[in-house]
Amino acid sequence: MTSKPLKILIIEDDEDDAFYIKDLLKEGLGKPAPIIDHHSSIGSRLKTLNPFQYDLAMFDYRLGEINGIELLRSFREQGCDIPIILFTGQGDQEVAVEAMKAGATDYLTKGKLSTESVTQSIRYALKLRNEAALRKQTEEKLKKSHVDLTLAHRELQASMKKLKTAQNQILRSEKLAGIGRMVAGVCHEILNPLNIISGHSQSLLIDKSTDLELCQDLESIMEEIQRISKIISSLLKFSRKGNMEFKKADINIELESVLSLIEKEMQLKGIETIRKFDPNNLSVYIDTDGIRQVFLNLINNAKFAMNGGGTLTVSTEVLTPETNWSYYQEKDSTAPSPEKVMRVKFADTGTGIRKEDIEKIFEPFFTTKPEEKGTGLGLSVSYAIIEKHGGSLEVESELDVGTTIIIDLPIRE
Ligand SMILES: Nc1ncnc2c1ncn2[C@@H]1O[C@H](COP(=O)(O)OP(=O)(O)OP(=O)(O)O)[C@@H](O)[C@H]1O
Ligand SMILES: [Mg+2]
Repeated sequence: MTSKPLKILIIEDDEDDAFYIKDLLKEGLGKPAPIIDHHSSIGSRLKTLNPFQYDLAMFDYRLGEINGIELLRSFREQGCDIPIILFTGQGDQEVAVEAMKAGATDYLTKGKLSTESVTQSIRYALKLRNEAALRKQTEEKLKKSHVDLTLAHRELQASMKKLKTAQNQILRSEKLAGIGRMVAGVCHEILNPLNIISGHSQSLLIDKSTDLELCQDLESIMEEIQRISKIISSLLKFSRKGNMEFKKADINIELESVLSLIEKEMQLKGIETIRKFDPNNLSVYIDTDGIRQVFLNLINNAKFAMNGGGTLTVSTEVLTPETNWSYYQEKDSTAPSPEKVMRVKFADTGTGIRKEDIEKIFEPFFTTKPEEKGTGLGLSVSYAIIEKHGGSLEVESELDVGTTIIIDLPIRE
């Protein structure tokens, strides 16, 4: 049956019966001979007996102080699942049924015991047990593979998300770099004739200062030239590399200086500004002019989106691998990530941005504002400035709920 001898527990109060059963077992099971532990009564020793040390147990039904079924129940209650065979008397059908209900593996009628019937019953009981063990093993393996699969699936999803974000960022950067190169060329083409027009207009203004009507027209031309110059200078900021002056500065102070310029006007429009500044006052290497322009652009956008009033929450927060582990986990692990990151958030309760517009808002000249209200350069210029700082600018927005712009700037020592 097995290479190891079977350890069998027999509880039988009739010495002759026990002797006979042991003989049958030895004969029927062959080599290696089973190790048989026989007790004629169990009662008081039930508590000290360890049922788990046996491969199989055989109980007589009639045991005096406790019957075989009670004993069987006590074993099962302890969680012992070894095969248990019960000996019943002739015609004890009800006992047999009760025994099976209580968890017996099989029963044998005492008057009909033979080598064959006993070994067959034991083989059957052990087969059931092996099958159950195998089933349990398979179930556990299946459960484990399911867990492994779920984990692998989650990892795959996380990697796909990272890849998608990286891909979008690359696409956006490439697209903007391409537009930047074109814009730089066009700007220079425009600047020359513009300077000539501006020069002629100015000399005409001086020469014909007596012609009032002409002077008014010339002033109007000068105003428009100013407008074009402003656009061109924004475009050049967006397209030009270099020209940045990095120095150590406190982001909270920079934010405060921009907010103080615009907060009054916002209050008049019914917009409340909430500051949630990180008190650690960590300095960052930045081009202060550029960063102030970014903040102003973003606050202006928020102001416009909250025409009927609302709340702008401006927050700063220092992210570190210790405090924001998930941020560093989600970041593309192949790119070197700085020890610390300064996160600046502008969260408004404005109109929000339509899903189909989200990718377009960083393109120069994309605007949903009326012509006199916006040129569509604010975000593309801001994006380029933050990119030149080695940082990132992301947007989260829900229509009719609001928009949050998240800027992450690396903190370098
Ligand atoms: N906070 C915001 N809430 C809602 N929509 C926004 C927000 N920020 C930007 N947008 C959308 O993105 C568009 C592009 O913004 P961007 O700042 O580049 O240009 P603009 O504000 O239209 O013009 P400009 O900034 O040049 O005056 C906006 O027209 C608007 O549709
Ligand atoms: Mg803008």
